[in-house]
Amino acid sequence: MTLTGRHISYWIDSTLPSSYPTLSQDVTVDVAVVGAGLAGVTTAKLLQQAGKTVALIEADRIGAGVSGHTTAKVAALQQLIYADLIEQHGEEKARLFGESNRAAIARLADLITAENIDCDFERKANYTFATDTDGLTKVKDEIEAAQRLGLPVSFVESVDLPLPVSGAIVMPDEAQFHPRKFMLAIAATLPGNGSHVFEQTRVQTVDGEGPCRVITHNGPTVTAQDVVITTNLPILDIGLYFAKTYPKRSYIVGGRIAPEQAPKDMYIGVGENYRSIRSTPTDDGGTLLLVGGEGHKVGDDSATDERFQRLESYLQKTFGVEPAYRWSTQDYISFDKLPYIGPLTPAHDHTYVATGFSLWGMAKSILSAMVLSDRILGIANPWADLYESTRPAPFVTATSIQQNLEVGTRWVGDRFKGLFDSPDSVGPGEGKLVTHKGSKIAAYRDDSGQLHTVSAVCPHLGCIVAWNQAENSWDCPCHGSRFSCNGDVLHGPAVKPLESKPCD
Ligand code: FES
Repeated sequence: MTLTGRHISYWIDSTLPSSYPTLSQDVTVDVAVVGAGLAGVTTAKLLQQAGKTVALIEADRIGAGVSGHTTAKVAALQQLIYADLIEQHGEEKARLFGESNRAAIARLADLITAENIDCDFERKANYTFATDTDGLTKVKDEIEAAQRLGLPVSFVESVDLPLPVSGAIVMPDEAQFHPRKFMLAIAATLPGNGSHVFEQTRVQTVDGEGPCRVITHNGPTVTAQDVVITTNLPILDIGLYFAKTYPKRSYIVGGRIAPEQAPKDMYIGVGENYRSIRSTPTDDGGTLLLVGGEGHKVGDDSATDERFQRLESYLQKTFGVEPAYRWSTQDYISFDKLPYIGPLTPAHDHTYVATGFSLWGMAKSILSAMVLSDRILGIANPWADLYESTRPAPFVTATSIQQNLEVGTRWVGDRFKGLFDSPDSVGPGEGKLVTHKGSKIAAYRDDSGQLHTVSAVCPHLGCIVAWNQAENSWDCPCHGSRFSCNGDVLHGPAVKPLESKPCD
């Protein structure tokens, strides 16, 4: 299969690498923030502005994780959400959801202005469009729901896209930006006067409460009165967030388009085969068109390159644009459609989490920073109750029952995969589960013929990993941990690598 675009996020490719130090000795601060994506960077900034000393600790590099692989739409209209929220939570909570997401967009705009950050921030209209009768019904239900909540939405019959549309809901004055430019600029304002940024520092666990000890893989600790965990899914299992959400991957391709032909605003379709569309200015004066979609549960599909191929084909056929970039991302879907923002458990007063952003993490990251910084500062926040992380989890919804059953089924059933395959049966460019001397092995043979073998047992809670062809990674279908072909952690909640298993 031939894919055209370069396999790297445009947001990463168009920014310089960051190079903050690794934590090499113990430090003490007021607040430690674990995970330097948009939620972590912004939380650290808001706390520092309020006079706290902070340590921002990142296992990889600033903004190199999920926040560096998004479409970066900052939106309160999140495809279709308000009709569902009213049905599931009632009108008042749905109204607060809209209000809080719009407040987050405004807070981001204020921060960008106050810090004078050049990050291609633009106010844009945001459309959710239908291409068939079923989709149109859903769009009209969404308009009615959003209007009941006082949101400034309206119906339009056509949109600025070269495809037939049966109707769309539009929300004005939403936003888009270059997320990594923003995160790098904010991170650069943090070090000094008792605050720090550490990269390539993987946190293993957090001990104690007020003060908390943040323990890292290479030994040194950060002692802090409060700790905020913003690692997409919390790396600490005790809050059971892995059982209150499920992991979903999605894919993005981008290609250069003439500025006058680029769609003006932000768009997303409805239904399983939705496409998410926006453009972004490039630093050389051009325009890049981005198309996302093809979402699926992590570990459910090893032929992920076909998903890129379908998006590349869509880019070429719909817009006449040749692919220049492709990348993928991952997020955790909350079963009750609300993120979890607050204490790790009811017993924790100083350890906080933010997770379950359900593919719309830009506004919710800023919102998390607002709620958590207020909480740590002792300021009442109007949305804290809505997103309370210790609220009863909806373990009895159809989706959550199905997901948790699937986890149990995979935990058992995947152990039989590769039972009769040996490492020798793995061809060049192939990743496969095999059995060697009674052990379940995840084996990948690279194009030069070298075999890379690691344990197939995920170090998080023991599920069996699955091969991801497009990313050359081992992905865990249970809670979304991902590993390189050599076992290194690419994505939590796992904090330890897949065990090395030489098959000589
Ligand atoms: Fe939980 Fe693998 S991510 S078992």
